[in-house]
Amino acid sequence: RWNIPERVTLTPMELYEKLSAQGDKVRTLKTEKAPKPDIDAAVQLLVKLKLEYKTATGQDYKAGCPPSDGPTLQDNGPSVTEGEDLVNPWNVTTTSAKGVDYDKLIVRFGSSKIDQELVDRIERVSGQKPHRFLRRGIFFSHRDMHQVLDAYESKKSFYLYTGRGPSSEAMHVGHLIPFIFTKWLQDVFDVPLVIQLTDDEKYLWKDLSVEECHRYAVENAKDIIACGFDINKTFIFSDLDYMGSSPGFYRNVVKIQKHVTFNQVKGIFGFTDSDCIGKISFPAIQAAPSFSTSFPQIFNGRKDVQCLIPCAIDQDPYFRMTRDVAPRIGYPKPALLHSTFFPALQGAQSKMSASDPNSSIFLTDTPKQIKNKINKHAFSGGKDTIEEHRKYGGDPDVDVSFMYLTFFLEDDEQLDKIRQDYTSGVLLTGELKKRLIDTLQPMISAHQQRRKLVTDEMVQQFMTSRPLDFNY
Ligand code: TRP
Repeated sequence: RWNIPERVTLTPMELYEKLSAQGDKVRTLKTEKAPKPDIDAAVQLLVKLKLEYKTATGQDYKAGCPPSDGPTLQDNGPSVTEGEDLVNPWNVTTTSAKGVDYDKLIVRFGSSKIDQELVDRIERVSGQKPHRFLRRGIFFSHRDMHQVLDAYESKKSFYLYTGRGPSSEAMHVGHLIPFIFTKWLQDVFDVPLVIQLTDDEKYLWKDLSVEECHRYAVENAKDIIACGFDINKTFIFSDLDYMGSSPGFYRNVVKIQKHVTFNQVKGIFGFTDSDCIGKISFPAIQAAPSFSTSFPQIFNGRKDVQCLIPCAIDQDPYFRMTRDVAPRIGYPKPALLHSTFFPALQGAQSKMSASDPNSSIFLTDTPKQIKNKINKHAFSGGKDTIEEHRKYGGDPDVDVSFMYLTFFLEDDEQLDKIRQDYTSGVLLTGELKKRLIDTLQPMISAHQQRRKLVTDEMVQQFMTSRPLDFNY
């Protein structure tokens, strides 16, 4: 059946099994934080095996899909070939200092680029200047956004859905990106918003108790509320609380569960036979809020209100699955807006970690901590000496302080000037860092002020299942 060259000793199935084992090994090495050379060697062998497999079978290896299997969901999630970036909900790695190659990711994931035409259209339809995240390609990819705008223009409403996995009390500035943008979308389109806090997910994946995860959900809700969401238009929920109390929600979860096989989630998420069954069924829980019937109190039982999900691109595997299932259970597919990752202070090679206090700026940092972290840890694209820097200039594309400014400095002209001056060598690294410090200190202080004003009663109200200020 497969075009197997005569001298190949392993059958496709044997090769497949060897590959799965090697994939598991790489994952284990990574979770155990093994020395980098060990991980690299294991990854190299994995890549070699994948090539062999492709030669033997004419197909790309997909975790969870043995060679004798029929077609599964189209997906390019967990498997990577040489030179490609790895992007999935648990892992983001790249070898380039500029970070992940997002154009390639669009091709691999089969999404669409947010091009100038779409940005212009959002401006026309909303009547507002596009958010800097759109102007600067930070939200860079989408699925079906044109369809959302078509519908909106013909007075058909939609709703927003985003979320957060509350793995600790500490949130950093990167965590705010989807929320800052979602708040803008809510303001300009005036639509309902649901925010899922996946405390169940964190319990399943981390070494935390159910109660700890739930407590983090409530704590994180305060930081989310401090972004300025309208209490009459926003429902924030903890899975642990809402799932058990909402028949609408749980009905959708089981409908989704019935339409996705173990093989499919293995292929999409790289689950293995030894993952607990909670993880295996969790994707259905992240998918469910994409359907308006999961919130009958808001949508009055209507099943046709389209959902738009702003999220970081690593969450896309969940929603590829959701979009595959949607028509089969009679619902519209959710549309998506994907953001790039917020780089760690140490450089754009990887996502930040909430457990490393020096990898990012936290929402609880004092002005002094912000200053010290940026001065000490922000990876610089500047030259080693002032003389060299003046002569050759710096590289803003690998400079983390510059990258952070593209996220947070509102003024386009100022940003452009900083880029030019840094590139030409007029602006020194220390001066660039100072610009960032001056931008972040007031921003974080203002966030802390707003968070202080969030009372327990407000959190309670945001997190109570209730109708919102919309008539459906
Ligand atoms: N799984 C996400 C995380 O760990 C949380 C999440 C749930 C989410 N639903 C979402 C993120 C919808 C974006 C959009 O952070």
